[in-house]
Amino acid sequence: KVTDLKKYVKQERFSAAKAGRELSVGFVPTMGFLHEGHASLLKQAREHNDLVVLSIFVNPIQFGPNEDLDRYPRDEKRDLALAEREGVDVVFLPSVQEMYPQPTKTKIAVSELTDELCGASRPGHFDGVTTVVGKLLHMVSPDKAYFGLKDAQQVAVIRQMVDDLNFDVEIVPCPIVRESDGLALSSRNVYLKEEERKQALILSTSLREAGDRIKQSDSVTLAEIRESLTRNIKSQPLAVIDYVDILSFPSLTQVHEDAQMRDLDGEILIALAVKFGTTRLIDNILLNPK
Ligand code: PAJ
Repeated sequence: KVTDLKKYVKQERFSAAKAGRELSVGFVPTMGFLHEGHASLLKQAREHNDLVVLSIFVNPIQFGPNEDLDRYPRDEKRDLALAEREGVDVVFLPSVQEMYPQPTKTKIAVSELTDELCGASRPGHFDGVTTVVGKLLHMVSPDKAYFGLKDAQQVAVIRQMVDDLNFDVEIVPCPIVRESDGLALSSRNVYLKEEERKQALILSTSLREAGDRIKQSDSVTLAEIRESLTRNIKSQPLAVIDYVDILSFPSLTQVHEDAQMRDLDGEILIALAVKFGTTRLIDNILLNPK
């Protein structure tokens, strides 16, 4: 229950304060079906905080009408075992009724950053994410909250929300965890059929290749990088591209296609979303050209 969670965190902070200590609370929000990507966030949270809170909630309002809400994978028992292994202190596993006792009439919507990438192909998705993350941050009131760069746009959007609305929390971005062959870990990977799984490897290999090419030559243009990425991915017959895009990060503003890497400062995000059968996968790399 939300009230139990709030009471518990308050109580722990109070007890620590009485003992003359400050309690730091680390929070990792997830939708469950946990894997080593989630575990890496929990490890960081464990390392840097006294109390670690994990939430598992498949948030209906961030799914579109034709998306996979009904078949989103779940395995509560396995999730709890992983949470225990990672030394999590509190697992918050609310029901939909608990999170949304009535349909929410209030939403948090971040503009501009949500027009690009997944925001363009999943209308309303990020409003659902920021609304639920805003609610969870109020419920847990953590000092730090951990998010994976697998969802780089999500990190940028949540940071913007936290800055704009003065949430008293530090957002900590964490690196992408991959399978040994390079495929980025995702709860949705279980949907992939054998042949789709094989072909999905093209995402990480072509991103790595793009990264190497940029490091080797600062005269290559972003248009050239985008073209070769698209060509590579299309070489896999089951791949259907949703987007392949190159933006500056974290502003998620367009960079000029004729720009060469030496013209750019700050970080550059190369991000893609590709469907294999009914499974939509995302992956990205962040480059720091200078
Ligand atoms: P979910 O997809 O379960 O992811 C929870 C967190 O784990 C996110 O911050 C995500 O970026 C991170 N993560 C997933 N795969 C990762 C990987 N391979 N390497 C590193 N981190 C990874 O993202 C969500 O849930 C939801 O949108 C949520 C923020 C919980 C709001 O509902």
